Amino acid sequence: MEKVFITRKIPESGIELLKAKFEVDVWDGELPPPRAELLRRVKGCGGLLTMLSDKIDSEVFAAAGASLKVVTNYAVGYDNIDLAASAKLGLRVGNTPGVLTETTADLAFALLMSVARRIVEGNQYVQDNRWKTWGPELLRGYDLSGKTLGIVGFGRIGQAMAKRGLGFNMPVLFYSPTAPKDVYPELNATKADLDRVLREADFLSLHCPLNDRSRKLINAEALAKMKDTAILVNTARGPVVDSKALFDALSSGKLAGAGLDVTDPEPILADDPLLKLSNVVITPHIGSASYETRAKMSEMSAENIIAGIEGKPLPFEVKLP
Ligand code: DGY
Repeated sequence: MEKVFITRKIPESGIELLKAKFEVDVWDGELPPPRAELLRRVKGCGGLLTMLSDKIDSEVFAAAGASLKVVTNYAVGYDNIDLAASAKLGLRVGNTPGVLTETTADLAFALLMSVARRIVEGNQYVQDNRWKTWGPELLRGYDLSGKTLGIVGFGRIGQAMAKRGLGFNMPVLFYSPTAPKDVYPELNATKADLDRVLREADFLSLHCPLNDRSRKLINAEALAKMKDTAILVNTARGPVVDSKALFDALSSGKLAGAGLDVTDPEPILADDPLLKLSNVVITPHIGSASYETRAKMSEMSAENIIAGIEGKPLPFEVKLP
């Protein structure tokens, strides 16, 4: 019987699909398997169901051995997997696109609203028993309505973010080297170069994959172009933003606020100065974390493993270089 290793406990529905066909080993620690354990457990597997927190490279493939046919990431992003090494070995690689689009855009918009309207600060203020009276200037934030929403990366999630902006009457300026169209009238969205998006956006939300082009795209130079009243939202990948430059911008008043679901490094270090700022809201990479979406991701991952082990194209396959 073929063996499958799942590097963390995922919702049961996908595990059940796999158990019906294969011998399934699940790492059920709260933390990812230590490297040595990962290398040990993959040995002889036909399929690996991995998380974005696992570095999957030629060392892992070598440890798995010739039995390995398929690796699928429990995420839409797959920057943790060495695609060139996978291609060399003829492995199939899968992910979970589409299913988490709305869930992730919901969180991006929630972060935007939280920072713009100072919801977390307000909650803290009340919990600290500082609420003595209604205040005419208490915890003022920024309106969303009618403001320009800048979006970097205009794939499924970027477009879903734009759709949410429609409800707030927000025109969208997006930067995307790959978007097939310049104008999406149904989303009130217009393509622009990055410079213009940075300068004109009242709020900037990142939805691009992490790759050589996007690493530290939002650096000190980019932040300097943004409005002082702007808010940055990152639900993509932490390294798209230069954290040190972000801290400088936020603490000097160059940027009004940030909502981050992803950080660099991840998890954020306990002494990271960003944690001390009241104009930042940070969540622990929970963009796709709804009951419904995580269950569907589990089933899609299982379907990928089943197809890969059975030698068929994956239903959700990543194009290899
Ligand atoms: C992804 O899918 O890439 C998210 O970051 C986690 O769901």
